[in-house]
Amino acid sequence: MPGPGMELIGEEEIQEVLGVLRGGYLFRYGSTVGPDADPRFRAKVCQCEQEIAHYAGVRYGVAVNSGTSALLTALAALGIGPGDEVIVPGFTYIASISSIVYARAIPVLAEIDRTFNLDPEDVKAKITRHTKAIMAVHMMGNPARLDELKKIADDRGVALIEDCAQAFGATYRGRVAGSIGKVGTYSFNVYKTITSGDGGMVVTDDEELYRRAFAFHDQGHSPLRTGVEIGERPFFGLDFRFTELQAAVLIAQFHKLPRLLERLRENKKRYKALLGDLPGVQFREITDE
Ligand SMILES: Cc1ncc(COP(=O)(O)O)c(C=O)c1O
Repeated sequence: MPGPGMELIGEEEIQEVLGVLRGGYLFRYGSTVGPDADPRFRAKVCQCEQEIAHYAGVRYGVAVNSGTSALLTALAALGIGPGDEVIVPGFTYIASISSIVYARAIPVLAEIDRTFNLDPEDVKAKITRHTKAIMAVHMMGNPARLDELKKIADDRGVALIEDCAQAFGATYRGRVAGSIGKVGTYSFNVYKTITSGDGGMVVTDDEELYRRAFAFHDQGHSPLRTGVEIGERPFFGLDFRFTELQAAVLIAQFHKLPRLLERLRENKKRYKALLGDLPGVQFREITDE
């Protein structure tokens, strides 16, 4: 079933996309400063990275072409590779695990608890000297037990990754999901809170991680490059770039987020009130109502 953002596609998305098409720039790069500045270039990818990072309360965002690419980019930025173990819940979408496999690392499955997310006790039991990261996956809008998981990650010197593909717009004790771990990832496919058809984002407050994530998503280049930087690339990157057209849709969708969340919360209250007394029905534990 498509997510709520898709139901709200309307005039705002159309106007944003037309603006990009009229400008004629579909690629994420163009000149906004200096003698080459072209006012027709609207820098929509850059805008959505800045707006969403700001909303998450972190300094950096890298827009990519899917939530799976965002996970692979986050793992690469963390330097996770052959022989490294990443703890991930056994109950998740396949991309959480396949991204670890394609990073040439080892997914170590841990149990979930009544939150339907990672059980911190089992995470502790699964940590070894090869563990490099804990990937918390916030299933169906409910953030994992982030305080406990962050403490475990910090105590053991491993990174906490938040896979927020299913939880864009969720908060945990006053903070936006994705901003609590070392790095967070979002998905904007059609089943998610807001959508650009496909798409994703990596968010982080760590500058070095941002530079590496950016390089990985765009052939090794530095953030917001203006030319080709031969010989200055930190490592081999790939191409997971987002386009101006997708970013235009995403921005219109993102501006609808407060209204959309309000509606989702109202609907949830109604379902809970209707189902609450049914014998044999229990609700999962919500970490932050
Ligand atoms: C928990 C989780 N992680 C990652 C992904 C991957 O996102 P995408 O489909 O945008 O690649 C999804 C998508 O369904 C997901 O639910």
